[in-house]
Amino acid sequence: MPDLYPLLRAFLFRLPPETANTISLYALRSGLGRIFATADSGKPDPPLLQQRLWGFEFPNPIGLAAGCDKDARAPNAMLALGFGFVEIGTVTPRPQPGNPKPRLFRLDEDRAGINRLGFNSDGLDAVIARLSRRSRTGIIGVNLGKNWDSAEAVKDYEEGVRRAAPFTDYIVINISSPNTPGLRDLQARARLDSLLWQLVGARNRAAPATPLLLKIAPDLTAQERADIAEISLATRIDGLVVSNTTVGRPPGLRSRYAGERGGLSGRPLFNPSTALLADMYQLTKGKLPLIGVGGVGTAADAYAKIRAGASLVQLYTALVFEGPALVSRIKTGLVDLLVRDGFASLSQAVGSSHRSAISGAGPLPELQIANPRP
Ligand SMILES: Cc1cc2nc3c(=O)[nH]c(=O)nc-3n(C[C@H](O)[C@H](O)[C@H](O)COP(=O)(O)O)c2cc1C
Repeated sequence: MPDLYPLLRAFLFRLPPETANTISLYALRSGLGRIFATADSGKPDPPLLQQRLWGFEFPNPIGLAAGCDKDARAPNAMLALGFGFVEIGTVTPRPQPGNPKPRLFRLDEDRAGINRLGFNSDGLDAVIARLSRRSRTGIIGVNLGKNWDSAEAVKDYEEGVRRAAPFTDYIVINISSPNTPGLRDLQARARLDSLLWQLVGARNRAAPATPLLLKIAPDLTAQERADIAEISLATRIDGLVVSNTTVGRPPGLRSRYAGERGGLSGRPLFNPSTALLADMYQLTKGKLPLIGVGGVGTAADAYAKIRAGASLVQLYTALVFEGPALVSRIKTGLVDLLVRDGFASLSQAVGSSHRSAISGAGPLPELQIANPRP
C-alpha cells in the first residue's frame, strides 16, 4: 500500500504545529493509524530486534519519545504504529497550562523543531485514570516533571513516582527540559544526589520492580556529565535517557524560526545528543542501560545510537516529517545493518563503536559523530 502520509502532511503543515499535533493524536486514537499500516504492520518483529531489558521483552528497540502523547491520550494507538515502547508525559502532579502560545515551531528546512511548551499537562489524576483504563499491551513509560510554581521539586517528583509507578512499566525523571525555570539546576551534583536517593526510596516503597530512569540535557559540561554518571551508578537507578532538547543552536540552521527561544529537537540535535550518549556510555562503563534519543530519522541514525551505547532508541521530531511508516522503515533498515556487520543479536551491537573489533565481524567503521550529516 502506498504511504499516504505525504498527502496528510500537506494538510497538517498548513496548521499551527500544536494544532496539527492535537489533531494527529485524536485521529490516531479514533483508529486512523490503520490507514498507515504497512506490509509489516501486525507482524511480529524480527527476533534480531528483540531484547530483554529490566525483565521486559522489548519487541524492537524503537520507542516514541516523551512529549508527543503527554497526557496518555493514545498510547495503544502509538504502539500499534510499530513502536517497541511508548513514553507518556511529561506529567506534572497538578494540571497546568504551560507557556503562552505560540510555543511550538517547525523548522522545515532543518528537519527540526523548537518548543517552549513548559510542561502543559493534564496532571497526574487524569493521566493515571487513562492509564488505569487502558488494556495493558505493550511497554509504556511515564515521564515525570514538576509544576512550574511548586516550591519543592523533590516533593513533586516523589508524588509522581509514588502514584504513577503502579500504572507504568518504567518511570523517567525529567530534570532536563529547558522550559521550566530552574529545572535543569537539579542536574547539579549535590541536588541530583539528594533527589535520586529520595526517588529511589520512593520507588522502592511504591513499586520496587519498576525501573527508574533519569533524562538528561545535551548541554552539560564535562564535570556535570561525570557527576551524573557517578551518582547514577551510586544510587543504582536503572538507566539514563540521553537526551532532551538543546538550548544550543548548532551553526547552519536555515529556518526563520531558528532564533525562537526553547529546546531544539530533530536532525541538528543528532550530533550533540549522540556525543553525549557515547560519553555517558564510557563514563558508566557500559553498566547502565541507556536510551538514545535526539535527531533519529533513519535506520543508520538508530544504529549509530546503538553502537554509541544505546540499548533502546527513541524519536519524535522525525515522525512529524516522515509519518508513521518511518517506524517500519527504521526497523527493516536496522535488521539489514545488524546482519551486514555480523551481529547475532541487538544487545551485541550496543556500545560496539567503543570496541575496536567484534570477533568474526572484523573491524567496524569508526563512528563519526563529530561530523555534521547532510
Ligand atoms: C514538541 C515537543 C515536546 C516535548 N516534550 C517533552 C516532554 O514533555 N518531556 C520530555 O522529557 N521531553 C520532551 N520532548 C523532548 C523529546 O522527548 C526528545 O528528547 C527530543 O525531542 C529529541 O528527540 P527528537 O529529535 O527525535 O525529537 C519534547 C520534544 C518536542 C519536539
